[in-house]
Amino acid sequence: MISIVLDFGGQYTHLITRRIRDLGVYSEILPFDVDLDLLKKKNPKSIILSGGPGSVYKKDDPKLTREFYQFTMRNKIPVLGICYGHHLIMHQMGGKVESKEKREYGKANLTIIKPNLLFDSLDKDQLVWMSHGDQIIEIANGFEVYANTETCSVAAYGNKEKQLYGVQFHPEVSNTPNGTKILENFIFKIAQSKKEWKLEGWIEKTIDEIRKEIGPNKKVILGLSGGVDSSVTAELLHKAIGDRLHCIFVNNGVLRKNEELEVQETFKKRIKNFHYVEAEELFLKKLENVEDPEEKRRVIGHTFIEVFENKTIELEKAYPDIKFLAQGTIYPDRVETSATSKVSAKIKSHHNLTLPDNMKLEIIEPLKDLYKDEVRRVGIKLGVPDNIINRHPFPGPGLAVRIIGPIDKEKLTILRNADEILIQEIKDEGIYNQIWQAFCVFLPLKTVGIMGDFRTYEYICSIRIVESNDAMTANFSKLDWELLERIGTRIANEVKGINRVVYDISNKPPSTIEYE
Ligand code: XMP
Repeated sequence: MISIVLDFGGQYTHLITRRIRDLGVYSEILPFDVDLDLLKKKNPKSIILSGGPGSVYKKDDPKLTREFYQFTMRNKIPVLGICYGHHLIMHQMGGKVESKEKREYGKANLTIIKPNLLFDSLDKDQLVWMSHGDQIIEIANGFEVYANTETCSVAAYGNKEKQLYGVQFHPEVSNTPNGTKILENFIFKIAQSKKEWKLEGWIEKTIDEIRKEIGPNKKVILGLSGGVDSSVTAELLHKAIGDRLHCIFVNNGVLRKNEELEVQETFKKRIKNFHYVEAEELFLKKLENVEDPEEKRRVIGHTFIEVFENKTIELEKAYPDIKFLAQGTIYPDRVETSATSKVSAKIKSHHNLTLPDNMKLEIIEPLKDLYKDEVRRVGIKLGVPDNIINRHPFPGPGLAVRIIGPIDKEKLTILRNADEILIQEIKDEGIYNQIWQAFCVFLPLKTVGIMGDFRTYEYICSIRIVESNDAMTANFSKLDWELLERIGTRIANEVKGINRVVYDISNKPPSTIEYE
């Protein structure tokens, strides 16, 4: 039983899908203009229309076809429109939507004015999160208004006969406290779905599928970075095909302190065919004098592919049965919406595109349908060590984007030493797992300081610690002053090259998490 989310370009599309999966029902995203035959093949039990930046009166903004509605109504498939989806259904069913000059953004008090299944077992007054310009001013025939707010007379509606529903607010965001209950009502009480999506079943099924796909003799190579996705991919493949898995780990010279040693230590004892490639010098040479952040990313991405290809060719000669290239691609990497993040996905896709033709490796992506939290849960069930599963995200271009301007060995050493202190203090305080990311940034600015009787003139280290659910938005952590003082004092005293430490109090937006 699957619930389909049609993407109209909203920033929360992935959140809707995740919420539904958390309810125990499998959900996937498809583009709003998906081919109707493909949609039919999916046999959806319910459909949700995401929000989006469009306006229903603009000719070129996304619309649904008559055939789409015929399909859902004929098959009694409930459809819930959220924000833009809410306007679109009403517009296409004959109601009126009005464009407002001023956007409504933030919390609103919703009043449920008619008992209905969508708001079943909820109090009459609800706090909800609004973010919209347009709004409905006239309801179409056959529809009932379920709820309103002070400024929005049709904040939710339904038509039981046509099985069409809409909400102006966003039930998928945590700022709508009972939003999950509303989605739950839609999925179980209106669409009558059953809880069937469980990760245990997924692991067994996937291991079975991997075995079938690879067959009894062929071998697989995988780029293993030590991050969550590639580590869980390695573990899953290892369970499925054992020593026929070959992992390649590249030291690109911009890893954290001792990371290359830790990853080797963890995986060498778990995976027999673990191949370490030392490429620090090559990467640093190519990065010499590179100042622009995007150029750094490009250089690192391309050099990685070059090194990886060379190692693959070497392994192919030694093991002619290597026929597959595994990748730790996860669902948000694959489904392009405005909500998905950028560069890592590009590196991954880049990667298969540039493999030489004569290699002809088939791609295998066992985690391609999972979200990060699901990948973590799979990893835990497979016994992947805790230090890998709960690691903070680390960008592919590594410390290169945490040193402003050109990088060199001296700056890398300074940054590594500062970062080690920060992470150690955060772990000792027992808050590492509550934080999305904590790291140091090297600012190539020298300021004056004092050390004993001497005047110093050294660099600045900025500390970035943020809380977030998905990196799309983030708030700086309001840490205890004493902890911050301890971190700052230790870094300035213990790290040669730094005499000043600043704490970054910017949120995302408008700032990003990383500095480059
Ligand atoms: P920003 O800086 O855009 O980062 O707020 C959002 C999340 O993405 C990570 N990030 C990257 N990951 N390659 C990656 O694999 C990159 O080039 C990259 N840039 C940012 C960042 O650490 C944060 O978790």
